[in-house]
Amino acid sequence: MSILLAITGWDPAPWLKRFGALLPGEKIVTLDKLADRAAVRYALVWKHPPGSLAGLPNLKAIFSLGAGVDHIFADPNLPDVPIARVVGGDLAQRMGEWVVLHCLMHLRQTRRYERQQRERVWAPDFSEPSAAEVRVGVMGLGELGRSAARKLLTLGFEVAGWSASPKMEPGVACFYGPDGLDAMLARTDILVALLPLTPATRGILNAGLIAKLARDGRLGGPVLLNCGRGGLQVEADIVAALDSGALKGASLDVFETEPLPSVSRLWRHPAVILSPHNAAISSPDATARAIAEQILAHERGEPLRHLVDRAKGY
Ligand code: NDP
Ligand code: OXD
Repeated sequence: MSILLAITGWDPAPWLKRFGALLPGEKIVTLDKLADRAAVRYALVWKHPPGSLAGLPNLKAIFSLGAGVDHIFADPNLPDVPIARVVGGDLAQRMGEWVVLHCLMHLRQTRRYERQQRERVWAPDFSEPSAAEVRVGVMGLGELGRSAARKLLTLGFEVAGWSASPKMEPGVACFYGPDGLDAMLARTDILVALLPLTPATRGILNAGLIAKLARDGRLGGPVLLNCGRGGLQVEADIVAALDSGALKGASLDVFETEPLPSVSRLWRHPAVILSPHNAAISSPDATARAIAEQILAHERGEPLRHLVDRAKGY
């Protein structure tokens, strides 16, 4: 049996080493070294070249080396086999840290006080609200959104969440579907996007959505956090909203084009806090361990876990 490592943008060597150590009896091959396509039973992928998984007659499953799977569905010639993705407590913990950090940065006006420090200005804002006076809306109540929502609750934020199907999450006001989105936006001061990128969610963070956010909140204007995918956002609309004051601030971890082009206005916008798509890094060792365990279990006849729904695209 061979296991195909089909990745772009990452160095394959450490992945070959990890999987080689975890699955010592198996041959792990990269696309450029693939000679016997019939021997391939599993594919480990991150942004694989489109079409490169076609013509593998004995392929049993595809494993995403990340939590998101939009990079897999970008391939129009995807073979019809199960697709599994990364799900884990470590990833949820890290994403929760990013969401909490950025909610607090906007709540506690980090940018303003950094500027004041640079200028040696002593000017406390005595009208600053507490977390309990700020409403956070989380778009996407999946593995990561739910975990972030729980962490925000412990800090005292008023938390709502939105998903495709109805959800029950203690302490979280749950909304779903298109009508639910409008209702949640109308009561949201900080919007957190933790949706997968699918045809239904592409470009959802646009001027129309921003116009529906609450304007009566204690932050003096709505704030947008996107740690889902860059394709969710229309960057021109976000920049225009920040310029006009329709948005008070934004924290962006993901971008329409990555790396973010140096000409992007987002780099230097005073109301924007950027991070380089590292809100939650899947630990490579933990990812490899989890996938190797799945492969061994599947070879013993056990079912695969963390499967993606092809019809939904996530
Ligand atoms: P899940 O699949 O567990 O959850 C997705 C959530 O989004 C679900 O609640 C789902 O609703 C909801 N959703 C999907 N489509 C729609 C829609 N059209 N309308 C309303 N709700 C919708 O994903 P995860 O929580 O594990 O991850 C979310 C995303 O985070 C990933 O897809 C990835 O893109 C991104 N990510 C970013 C990272 C970073 O470092 N920036 C790191 C890891 C992931 P329902 O439950 O009803 O199906
Ligand atoms: C992922 C990511 O999908 O890092 O895991 O974005």
